[in-house]
Amino acid sequence: MPESKKIIFSIETSCDETAMALVEAKGKLISPKFKVIKNAILSQIAKHKEFGGVVPNIAKREHQKALPEMLEIFEVVPEFEDIDIIAVTVGPGLEPALWTGIEFAEDLGKKINKPVFPANHIKGHLYSFLLSSINNINELFPAVALIVSGGHTILLLLNSISEYKVLGETKDDAAGEAFDKGARLLGLPYPGGPELEKLALKGNSATFNFPRPMANQDNFDFSFAGLKTALLYKLKDSYKANWKDINKKAISGISDNLASGDAEDIAASYQQAIIDCLAAKTFKAVKKFSARSVIISGGVAANKALRKAFAEIAKKENIEFLAPEQQFNTDNAAMIAASSYIESLQGIERPLEANGNLSL
Ligand code: KG4
Ligand code: ZN
Repeated sequence: MPESKKIIFSIETSCDETAMALVEAKGKLISPKFKVIKNAILSQIAKHKEFGGVVPNIAKREHQKALPEMLEIFEVVPEFEDIDIIAVTVGPGLEPALWTGIEFAEDLGKKINKPVFPANHIKGHLYSFLLSSINNINELFPAVALIVSGGHTILLLLNSISEYKVLGETKDDAAGEAFDKGARLLGLPYPGGPELEKLALKGNSATFNFPRPMANQDNFDFSFAGLKTALLYKLKDSYKANWKDINKKAISGISDNLASGDAEDIAASYQQAIIDCLAAKTFKAVKKFSARSVIISGGVAANKALRKAFAEIAKKENIEFLAPEQQFNTDNAAMIAASSYIESLQGIERPLEANGNLSL
């Protein structure tokens, strides 16, 4: 793609959200600018809720149903002739779900005779902060970026928009999984992150001292599996029941069976432990690499306590803190348009086929 203005129509179906966006992109790699013209997201949460997580074949069926309906409601048709490129997520994600978006994009591309760009979902999260207007973008670098979603926890050093190095990753669960699994133990419905955040709002985060796994280690990696186990022991202790009982009750709502106020304090303390683990490594990297900004993105970056903690530390360190607008934290197609523009300016190519394990 040359550098002039481009209109990108993007599609995202990697997990349980069907999403489409129409985005205007312009500028060179050192100063890209985006204007979101249209942005639509249809969540399948209600369809997966009773299973406590995303069921790939249900996701596929729901995407197949939603894509043509959404295109119609989206009313993009009169603007088709203005579209320069169609972008579609090819991975990482659930392959049956990814294929629905890819096939839909391919058919549409043939119909309107436009090229289809195979996009990387993680890069979408990484570049989602660019959807907000940013002054003096080049003063942000070097930047430390933290991607925290249901599938990934990755810490990166960005020397410019296009040059990055992975500093560390989670060794087990992703930060979003830590929220979801913790919420499940507390008997909260899927997806647990926003529910746990809501419960934590009413609690005191200093009440219980959950571990901060790996937080003091001399690396930039994360680990959350032990934290989840610590929560299980805490609940066992508070609930004074046996393991089997806890697991049974968790499904129907263990938080209701705890002493009044306990569930809120446990949720707040557990959430704080996750935030502290993330902040410890992120700001260690800021110091080591003399970063001028910190960027967070991904579903977990929607968490207000996390945003507040990071904003406060960044202020103390006298560096910029950037996070996407709320609607662009969780999965969306606007971020797919942004990353596709950046990647196509770089000349990055990949096959137009689903790759569940596609990496950065
Ligand atoms: O980025 P995303 O929408 O999908 C993936 O690429 O994984 O992230 C979803 C994850 C889920 O684990 C969800 O529980 C978590 O982000 N999440 C949150 C919040 N909103 C979404 N976690 C904590 N607090 C939130 N407010
Ligand atoms: Zn995502």
